[in-house]
Amino acid sequence: MEKVFGLLGHPVGHSMSPLIHNDAFAKLGIEARYHAFDVKPELVKEAVDAIRALDIAGCNVTVPHKIAVMEFLDEINDEALQIGAVNTIVNKNGKLIGYNTDGRGYVQSLLDETEEEIREKSILIIGAGGSARGIVTALLRYGVGRIEFTNRTIEKTASLIKLAEEFSIPSATVERKVAEESLNKYDVIINTTSVGMSPNFNHSPLSLELLKPGTIVSDLIYNPLETQFLKEAKERGGKIVNGIGMLVNQAALSFEHWTEITPDNKEMKKIVLQQLGG
Ligand code: ATR
Repeated sequence: MEKVFGLLGHPVGHSMSPLIHNDAFAKLGIEARYHAFDVKPELVKEAVDAIRALDIAGCNVTVPHKIAVMEFLDEINDEALQIGAVNTIVNKNGKLIGYNTDGRGYVQSLLDETEEEIREKSILIIGAGGSARGIVTALLRYGVGRIEFTNRTIEKTASLIKLAEEFSIPSATVERKVAEESLNKYDVIINTTSVGMSPNFNHSPLSLELLKPGTIVSDLIYNPLETQFLKEAKERGGKIVNGIGMLVNQAALSFEHWTEITPDNKEMKKIVLQQLGG
């Protein structure tokens, strides 16, 4: 019987996940279908109950439900607990288990695309929202040398500092101006904010005037594929990594949780780029 997978989010109209997963199912000859469900915030519990009632095999969870679904699941894995958000649900014989593949997907793309080891590196994170937390958790679990945070609302970095302390990894909060003046301290700079996302193409979260050539500069944004931030980094000799790898790898890792099959993430990337016209 055809298995059903889904996405719980609100809105879900622009999601690439149905395209990515349905294409992978077809290419691998798996009898399954992935559907995007637009779930209103007040109906999250009912949506999770529906996974059980309808025997939906697995789901992704996206904005704004990644935190709200957690209390209705039967089990949450350690990494998702640490992040405090779930983006993947596996229905294991009626038991719903929550995972988070965003951060790990991102770290994998950073390693693959730069072919550099980051365990000793000094990292600067811009932003302190949900995306930052997922990525920071994955970076800390992987292991990095030092991690610093800057954010428009500086107080919001406190929980990220606490997280770094749990891993005994040196960390600090820096004002944006201070970070901009000492950019040569960092080996990797990651923008987790939405600054520069379409349609605000000419906005950038940080001035890169003093960027040291060879620095890895990364943006979680994939629309546009090359943000103003990445353009500037490239001009100054930075190695750039956009958000496509994260989008694709988080999907591949979810797919693996559901099917125990590792899909070809290059195929996934190809179909996403086709869709984006890149
Ligand atoms: P997400 O889950 O995508 O991380 P979020 O939790 O709303 O979304 O966090 C968005 C991040 O982008 C925050 O760090 C936010 O800064 P604040 O904590 O000060 O709100 C940052 N951000 C969003 N718009 C911004 C802007 N115009 N300038 C600077 N930072 C911005």
